Amino acid sequence: MADSNPFAAAAASTPPRLEQVQELESRVLMRTYERIPLLAVEGKGPWLYDADGRRYLDFLAGIAVNALGYAHPRITRVLRDQGRRLIHLSNLYYHDYQGQLAERLNRLAGMERAFFANSGAEAIETAIKLARLHGRTITPDKFELVALENSFHGRTLGALSITGQPKYRQPYEPLLPGVRFVPLNDGNRLREAVNERTCAIIVESIQGEGGVFPAEPAFLQLAADLAREHRALLIFDEIQCGLGRTGKWFAFQATTVVPDLVTLAKPIAAGFPLSCVLGRGPAATLFQPGMHGTTFGGGPLACRLALEFLDIVEEDHLLENVQTMGNLLMEGLENIVRRHAQATTVRGRGLILALQLDRPARPVVEQAREMGLLINATHDSVVRLLPPYIIEARHVRQALKVLSRALRTVARGQKAS
Ligand SMILES: Cc1ncc(COP(=O)(O)O)c(C=O)c1O
Repeated sequence: MADSNPFAAAAASTPPRLEQVQELESRVLMRTYERIPLLAVEGKGPWLYDADGRRYLDFLAGIAVNALGYAHPRITRVLRDQGRRLIHLSNLYYHDYQGQLAERLNRLAGMERAFFANSGAEAIETAIKLARLHGRTITPDKFELVALENSFHGRTLGALSITGQPKYRQPYEPLLPGVRFVPLNDGNRLREAVNERTCAIIVESIQGEGGVFPAEPAFLQLAADLAREHRALLIFDEIQCGLGRTGKWFAFQATTVVPDLVTLAKPIAAGFPLSCVLGRGPAATLFQPGMHGTTFGGGPLACRLALEFLDIVEEDHLLENVQTMGNLLMEGLENIVRRHAQATTVRGRGLILALQLDRPARPVVEQAREMGLLINATHDSVVRLLPPYIIEARHVRQALKVLSRALRTVARGQKAS
């Protein structure tokens, strides 16, 4: 038996083989993921290494989680030190870091109070519950939510209920009642959808999984105006685009609009699971003890890692780096659009960028991986790039070179067949 178990092999310090891991997983895991055939063993900075010692420039960064790259020495130090002291506590007792982290995040976002959870979807559930509580303080039938078509808010039932993509929702229907969807940046449809029964409007400041479509400032302003007029909450989901990814702490800070609630997750604790909802005004004081909670949320290790993440972003001027590298990458992608017929447009801001193709993106993504670059295909024809904040100009140049070569190789292959 031991021979067929890759983890037994790893214990004996022989690296496991991809085929062994695939065979084991195919028997023992529920079939939720269609994995890429890459067996990762370690990472350093923006580089990921596989079991054969091949290295990949990772411009996907754990889907926007690994903003500091892999094995950041300051993160490793905190892991080691806090791991020796206190990893988990429960929310029954106090520890030193949750309050400090809430204060830091509130200050950065212009918010007043925080709730910590573990995943993006759990932060969204929390925001939905707050929206429901808010509605009930006004009238019992104020429970409708207005969300956007093509949005993605997570896989739990509440989060799916406001995710505007039938392919994720349909197998689990019926979902929460009273959700209306409107197209992104369509002010008229938004006006029609919001009414006195609306308890919240929820918007990704930049739709990430949906293909990197930014909400226009005027649309966000209209959402804020309608929310005020109809006494609904305005919720921004910045789980993918927040915490520095756009070159500002929060994507909404490129506008003058401030939401009542903002959800955060992915990069917050440098790869350790943590998420949060920040709130201001009445929305921040709706919960009373016992009304909401979670066992793992906001533990000492997670919060200390998040404090270190914020320190590193500040001390190493990473927001500025995101802007500079984002501009460089954007210019390079625009250049690719000029030179490659199958690439049509570039979208995004900072280091959340997309190259729109006129055909399926998957072959290009696979070819790029063969050539040592990790990127991702979303929404069939979109190449999404979410590199870590620590990248340098040489990494950007290399990524652009590989992407360009991958586009050329795939186009040549498609012409020949
Ligand atoms: C904008 C947004 N909201 C919510 C989620 C769900 O987060 P999680 O997968 O951590 O539950 C995601 C995940 O990609 C996301 O991009």
